[in-house]
Amino acid sequence: MPKIFKNPAEMIAARNEWLGSGLTIGFVPTMGALHEGHEALIKQARSDNKIVVLSIFVNPTQFNQKEDFEKYPNTLENDIKIAESLGVDAVFTPQYHDIYPDNYRYVLAENEFSKKLCGKDRPGHFDGVLTIVMKLFNIVKPCKAYFGEKDFQQLELIKGMVSAFFMDLEIIPVAIVRESDGLAKSSRNVRLNADGRALAPKIYQIISNSKNTDLASEELTKAGFVVDYVTDIGNRRFVAVKTKLTHDGGEVRLIDNVKI
Ligand code: PAF
Repeated sequence: MPKIFKNPAEMIAARNEWLGSGLTIGFVPTMGALHEGHEALIKQARSDNKIVVLSIFVNPTQFNQKEDFEKYPNTLENDIKIAESLGVDAVFTPQYHDIYPDNYRYVLAENEFSKKLCGKDRPGHFDGVLTIVMKLFNIVKPCKAYFGEKDFQQLELIKGMVSAFFMDLEIIPVAIVRESDGLAKSSRNVRLNADGRALAPKIYQIISNSKNTDLASEELTKAGFVVDYVTDIGNRRFVAVKTKLTHDGGEVRLIDNVKI
């Protein structure tokens, strides 16, 4: 059973002991609702480090829609079982007031890439992400931290932050894990109803097979999605779409990216 640390003081005491004994700490930050994508991060962290810390904190400052935050799945008990089965040493589960004693007065911002792609449709999202990740890094003090390539823009911005602030840790990217039909694993997939779940693999199929972004966007719209963007940057194609084919009729936003 992993140790459960419910506040920063407990987490900091443990990490000081581990680091003092020369043990390397691998860190997997999450918002819970763990799936095989997270499991891949944990497995990589387990094989690289002496100690593996997993954080579970649904970070309100990165949600720019109240509905999305409120509907974010909470599966803590099951998450802890998964953590145990994968040999996680500690699970850090703080509350809002522990993490934001300043009530989000201090914010870490990036002024270019964070305004593009997902940042364009979700103003403030990446400020929230960078701020929470910086706070978690300061509490856990990992040697290595693991992020999935599904959130590729997030991964790039976190790498940029680590480099810009001369932070002493390594960011390890982990490849996207997909369902057998190609749908990228995501905590949000559980919100899809049967029709939404049947439609969702088209995202990957269409962005992989379309000749250009305009054609991909057209096909996604024809398939029934509301397209936020399809954009090529370097050798990657990025997509974000929305659908209301959910259990509760609310909207869910899905993202993906492929090498082109
Ligand atoms: O990718 C996520 O789950 C979140 O954005 C993260 C990195 C845990 C920060 O809240």
